[in-house]
Amino acid sequence: MSIQTLQAELAQKEPREILKSIYSQVDNIAISFSGAEDVVLIDMACKLGLKPTVFTLDTGRLHPETYRFMQTVMDHYQLQIAVLAPEQESLNKLTQEKGLFSFYKDGHKECCGIRKVAPLRRYLGGLSAWITGQRRDQSKATRDSLDVVELDGAFSGKDGELIKFNPLCHWSSEQVWNYIRALEVPFNPLHSQGFISIGCEPCTRPTLPHQDPREGRWWWEEADNKECGLHSSSIISK
Ligand code: ADX
Ligand code: SF4
Repeated sequence: MSIQTLQAELAQKEPREILKSIYSQVDNIAISFSGAEDVVLIDMACKLGLKPTVFTLDTGRLHPETYRFMQTVMDHYQLQIAVLAPEQESLNKLTQEKGLFSFYKDGHKECCGIRKVAPLRRYLGGLSAWITGQRRDQSKATRDSLDVVELDGAFSGKDGELIKFNPLCHWSSEQVWNYIRALEVPFNPLHSQGFISIGCEPCTRPTLPHQDPREGRWWWEEADNKECGLHSSSIISK
């Protein structure tokens, strides 16, 4: 199965159709879960009877509401979500050398590298593909040319190449929230407090109407730098 064939097949399809098609063709695949979009994908996959494997990166710095929300999702869908933790030794080294808030001084890359990217790399090493809730309209600066199917340029899978699927790539925020409301999908209560894009507690703040949602993430850094390494190096294979 080539990336080009998958792209041609899936580019114009609706998310549900994309999920059905992915699960009929790819083994060793998991949904990465953190926010509203991801629960939409979990909801669709569960209702299609796909029994998805789901994982989340527990950075240790999430809001209490987010931890409760994770459990709500597990209970709602009767689903065991793999909760991945950072490696203790590198975490100890970082906090002993630089304290708990080094990212405000020298940028988020080092902390995200230890708390998110390294655990993700380990986990993806056992997969052939992963599914994310990324959408184009989440960020003009970094997600504008996102595709439904990509060859992941940052991580490797169990047999080398790793495919990344973004089934909601073309959906708007309105479509996501219409789905959530219509189907009573659980969502993080922080959304009711003005948070749109939710990451770690010290690095996320609410945004005002009409602000780019990602302005609330790592707000002390430049707009084109607001990726934590999970998605920054994806290459789009045309
Ligand atoms: S991030 O790169 O800035 O953190 P964002 O919050 O927009 O990403 O989420 C985009 C997608 O990345 C989510 O839909 C989800 O698939 C994945 N993702 C983000 N954070 C996590 C996390 N903590 N655990 C698992 N997947 C995540
Ligand atoms: Fe660290 Fe902030 Fe990145 Fe979370 S978002 S891993 S606290 S730098």
